[in-house]
Amino acid sequence: MAGRQPPLPVAPELADGDIAQAQEAAWIEVIRKMEEVYSDLIQYEIELEEKNTALEEAQRFITSVLSSVSDILVVCDSKGRIQQVNLAFLRLTDMAEIDLIGQPIDALLAAGAGPVSHWLEAASGEDREIRFVHGSTGTTDPVALTCATLLDHRGLPAGTVLTGRPVGELRRAYEALKQAQAQLVQQEKMASLGRLIAGVAHELNNPISFIVGNVHVLTKYRERLEAYLGVIHQGVDETEREALRRSLRIDTLMADLPALIAGTQEGAQRVADIVKSLKRLSFSQSGAAQPVNLAEIAENAVQWVIKGRKAPPVPHLELPEILLVPGHAGQLHQVMVNLMENALDAVEGQGNDARITVSGRFTSGTVVVEITDSGPGIATENLGKVFDPFFTTKPVGQGTGLGLWISYGIVRDHGGELSAENVASGGARFRLTLPGFS
Ligand SMILES: Nc1ncnc2c1ncn2[C@@H]1O[C@H](COP(=O)(O)OP(=O)(O)O)[C@@H](O)[C@H]1O
Ligand SMILES: [Mg+2]
Repeated sequence: MAGRQPPLPVAPELADGDIAQAQEAAWIEVIRKMEEVYSDLIQYEIELEEKNTALEEAQRFITSVLSSVSDILVVCDSKGRIQQVNLAFLRLTDMAEIDLIGQPIDALLAAGAGPVSHWLEAASGEDREIRFVHGSTGTTDPVALTCATLLDHRGLPAGTVLTGRPVGELRRAYEALKQAQAQLVQQEKMASLGRLIAGVAHELNNPISFIVGNVHVLTKYRERLEAYLGVIHQGVDETEREALRRSLRIDTLMADLPALIAGTQEGAQRVADIVKSLKRLSFSQSGAAQPVNLAEIAENAVQWVIKGRKAPPVPHLELPEILLVPGHAGQLHQVMVNLMENALDAVEGQGNDARITVSGRFTSGTVVVEITDSGPGIATENLGKVFDPFFTTKPVGQGTGLGLWISYGIVRDHGGELSAENVASGGARFRLTLPGFS
């Protein structure tokens, strides 16, 4: 079937001059468009270059961050092929970036560690201790590694990010921390030893000055007696001898002698007692537990602590004569001193209203000693913290926050318990419970 084409539209008749003009106008239009396009292009290029510079800047920034962190970082694609590693990882494995990019990460794990995809399935956020293949020595030191899913811009899984730090480094940091802690504990021990020595010095000062004074008087008496006896031995007559006896006050001297000697003896005995009580306070932790009279320790601690303070309130003692526990006297003394120091700190500034009671009892195989004070008590939110190391509400230089922590450790080592509570009348009560001798 043959169709018929519609007739072509017939162009209107144009004069030659008109045609030339129309062509010129078309050309001008084309050139204008081209210029427009060209200037747009230049604009785009400038923008592109700017964006490129910003991108390069960002890239440089990210690269410098990645290479300056000491933790290792490995980014893998969804097939487990390495896409990016940081400088720390290159150092750890002693490999070049060019040899790693594109390699399967599983091939870099020391035997038995992989595959990485299984870790993600296990989906636990815990660290794993992994060794990588090392470029020259075989395997690296263990690394504590965390594994996370890499998400693309739509939030869909696109690979894996591994971050980690050599375990040795962590261990070293931990060791350094432990050492610092031990040092602080030692400092607190030295501080409490310092307080003890101050107390001892104070205590010794009294009898020693007594002895020194007496010996001084005795020396003078000896000189007078020597003079008197010297004259007698020369065989003087009675009148002269009696005159000398009076002038040298020989009778007073003789009457004084027994008291002087007794006083000196008493002073020496006091010094001996103090030294004996110190010997019992051996601070060493070693050695087997000895029977210790906790009542005596508590009383002693009170004495030491109040000696070291100006006008302290005198604690009220409600202790039986004997509260026997197996333990280390020096350590238990330290606990008592710490509790007593805290109680005295708590009531400071209360003047005549300050009250501290130390009570003790023995019930069903257990020795209990309680120290109750009239201080402000412990804020409820701090009740659970007072035994934490370094917890202190005292100003810097006054509190270390280690006293109760050390005391807690000592009491626990003795198989006992140390607890704190507030009493209804205000103030705090610390209770020390130790297994006693039945
Ligand atoms: N008797 C008490 N009354 C009130 N608060 C106390 C008492 N004893 C201890 N505390 C609190 O427990 C904290 C820790 O005590 P401690 O471990 O001995 O360290 P420090 O005495 O060096 O502060 C104190 O700073 C204080 O806040
Ligand atoms: Mg303290």
